Amino acid sequence: MLIQENASLFPYNTFGIRCSAEYLAQFTSVSELQEILSQNKFHTQSKLLLGGGSNILFTKDFNGLVLLNEIKGIETVAEDPQSITLKVGGGENWHQFVSHCVSKGWGGLENLSLIPGKVGAAPMQNIGAYGVEQNACFIELDALDMISKSVVIFSKSDCHFGYRESYFKQKGKDRYAITSVTYKLNKHPKLNIEYGAIGQELDMMGVSTPTIGTVAQAVINIRSSKLPDPKDIGNSGSFFKNPIIENVIFELLKSNYPTIVAYPAQSGYTKLAAGWLIEKAGWKGYREGDFGVHKNQALVLVNYGNASGAEIIDLSNRIIDDVKLKFGVDLEREVNIV
Ligand code: EPU
Repeated sequence: MLIQENASLFPYNTFGIRCSAEYLAQFTSVSELQEILSQNKFHTQSKLLLGGGSNILFTKDFNGLVLLNEIKGIETVAEDPQSITLKVGGGENWHQFVSHCVSKGWGGLENLSLIPGKVGAAPMQNIGAYGVEQNACFIELDALDMISKSVVIFSKSDCHFGYRESYFKQKGKDRYAITSVTYKLNKHPKLNIEYGAIGQELDMMGVSTPTIGTVAQAVINIRSSKLPDPKDIGNSGSFFKNPIIENVIFELLKSNYPTIVAYPAQSGYTKLAAGWLIEKAGWKGYREGDFGVHKNQALVLVNYGNASGAEIIDLSNRIIDDVKLKFGVDLEREVNIV
């Protein structure tokens, strides 16, 4: 267990915001976390659990205790000829876990290759990409209730998963530390290659009979070409959600903008590509000082070096206002603002 005072959070957020935490503690087991939380000086402190810091924007220093999950390990809890069930430490790197499954021939999560962050953060916002969300393989998770300090098991229905949503972003916010997640992978997987860009990439790779390995590689190729690597340019992936609007409103928009990009959503609704709206509003590639909108993907706001969280929030507000003015559509932020 390592506890630092007045610690820089720069290495722990992929946006590369320079800010600090009053206390920063790393834990490698549930008992270490319980021990930290039992210390008198932390009883009244605000607490923030960081996964890979890949879906967070700090707008100020954090006056409280930041907890870094370093719980490692991939344990087999059940296996049969069809499937394998794995309990994974919340501190495992997500992409390394997915790659491990792909290398073993266990399918279900390959479309989620290269998503930054840690396993413990994946259920928090129900990460998704290329037609698959982590809840497709999710069985249950263990979380520590930071008030009672007891471990609580959450089933899939307890988590209330939605599009980039879960109980942990809503009612359970700031209360639970996800310590491990259990996933069931398929040994005879059905591939998800309906998402247009995957089919095109497989063709370009010359693959006629895809496998989970080639699908994972296609996803890695697409993501690497469109999304900035946080090691080079600070960012948190998609900054906004793709808005879901009523079909009647969509039909009106489509008559004005025939090239608008959209996907079917729940009955009576359509999901719009926010990237298209932001690009058409003229923001793609916009830069001011050290902050801006990525040149290849308008959903991604970027920090070129010394941008502050406040500058990025301000930019996001200007984009939200402009998209509302031009298209009448409300954009909602996906990233957690602290
Ligand atoms: N588009 C534009 N301009 C842009 C970006 C997108 O016109 O600058 C249009 C294009 O027509 C493109 C379509 O929007 O075909 C969809 O773009 P893309 O496939 O890049 O996906 P997205 O809707 O922008 C979502 C997720 C991503 C995920 C991809 C692939 C959200 C908020 N974002 O983005 O997730 O990787 O689909 O499945 O749902 C993340 O959450 O951080 C993230 C990167």
